[in-house]
Amino acid sequence: MNNLIEKSYKTFRVDGCTDQKTFYFKIGKVDIKPGQFYMLNYNNSQKPFSVSHYDGENIGFTILKRGNTTLHMIENAKIGDYFGLTGPLGNSFHTEQYTNFLLIGGGVGAAPIYFLSEYLSKINKKNSVLFGSRTSSLCDFTHNLKSNKSATVSYYTDDNSGENQGFVTNGIEEILQKEKIDTVCLCGPEKMMIVASEKIKKFTSVPIQISMERYMKCGIGICGSCVLDDIGLRVCADGPVFDYELLITSKEFGKYHRNSGGLIEKF
Ligand SMILES: Cc1cc2nc3c(=O)[nH]c(=O)nc-3n(C[C@H](O)[C@H](O)[C@H](O)COP(=O)(O)OP(=O)(O)OC[C@H]3O[C@@H](n4cnc5c(N)ncnc54)[C@H](O)[C@@H]3O)c2cc1C
Ligand code: FES
Repeated sequence: MNNLIEKSYKTFRVDGCTDQKTFYFKIGKVDIKPGQFYMLNYNNSQKPFSVSHYDGENIGFTILKRGNTTLHMIENAKIGDYFGLTGPLGNSFHTEQYTNFLLIGGGVGAAPIYFLSEYLSKINKKNSVLFGSRTSSLCDFTHNLKSNKSATVSYYTDDNSGENQGFVTNGIEEILQKEKIDTVCLCGPEKMMIVASEKIKKFTSVPIQISMERYMKCGIGICGSCVLDDIGLRVCADGPVFDYELLITSKEFGKYHRNSGGLIEKF
C-alpha cells in the first residue's frame, strides 16, 4: 500500500447506459496494475470497484446497478461531481512471466479484464479475450479493444443481442486448441469461474488466476468482513487475485459469500 492515495476527484466524463456506467477521473501518474481496485465514496456511501481503465493520467471505473450504493451512483452522479477515491488497493494479475493470455470476463467482471487486456496490448503481449454478459450493451465499454493488434476479442450474450449466443465458457475450447496459452485470468460470477476452470483443467495445467469479490467494509485488511472460510485470507489485502489451486481449498469458493451483516448467502 506504499502508493495509496486518498483524495477527492471531480468526474470529467461519464459513459454507459441506464444499468451500467463508466466514471472517469483525472488522477495523474500513479502505479496501478490490472486487478487492483479502489474504494469509491459518493455522498458518504463507499464500495470497492476494480480499475477498468487507466492510461497514465485518467482512471475509469465501470459500475453496474445492483443495490443501494450503485443505484445511487448510476442514477445521480454526473460530470463535475466529486468522488472520494482510496487506492490503488489489493494485489494484481501476474503478467511478467507469461506471453500468451486467455482472459475471461463475465458480467461486471469484464471491468478488470478490459483493463488487463489494454495493459497487455500496450506491452505487446498476445491476449485472447472472452466477454459474457446478459445483453450486448453492457460490454459497449470494451469495444475499442478490437483495434488492438495483440488482442482477439469475442462476445457472448444471454439474450443473443451480440456476436454469439450462450455462455462465455463456450469459447474456451477453441482458443485453447488454437493458441499456446500460458496463463488464464478470470473475473465474474463464481459459478462461471468454476465451470471455466474445470474446462481449462481438462486441456492444460497452466496457472489460472481468479479475481474474487467479497463484501468489503474497510478495504485495507482490518475489519475481517472479506475473509475466506476456512483459509483465512482477506480478499481486500491478500487478493483480490488468487490462484485457482488455492481457492479450491476454501470451502466457500463457488458456494456462498457473506452479506453486510456477516450472514451466509448461497450463490
Ligand atoms: C474487489 C472488488 C471489485 C469490485 N469491482 C466492481 C466493479 O468494477 N464494478 C461493479 O459494479 N462492482 C464491483 N464490485 C462490487 C461492488 O463493490 C458492490 O459490492 C456491488 O456493486 C453492490 O453494491 P451495492 O451497494 O449497490 O449493493 P448492495 O445493496 O450492497 O447489495 C446488492 C446485492 O448484491 C450482493 N452483494 C453486495 N456486495 C457483494 C459482494 N462483494 N459479493 C457478492 N455479492 C455482493 C448483496 O448481498 C445483495 O444481494 C467489486 C467488489 C469487489 C470486492
Ligand atoms: S474489507 Fe476489511 S478486511 Fe477486507
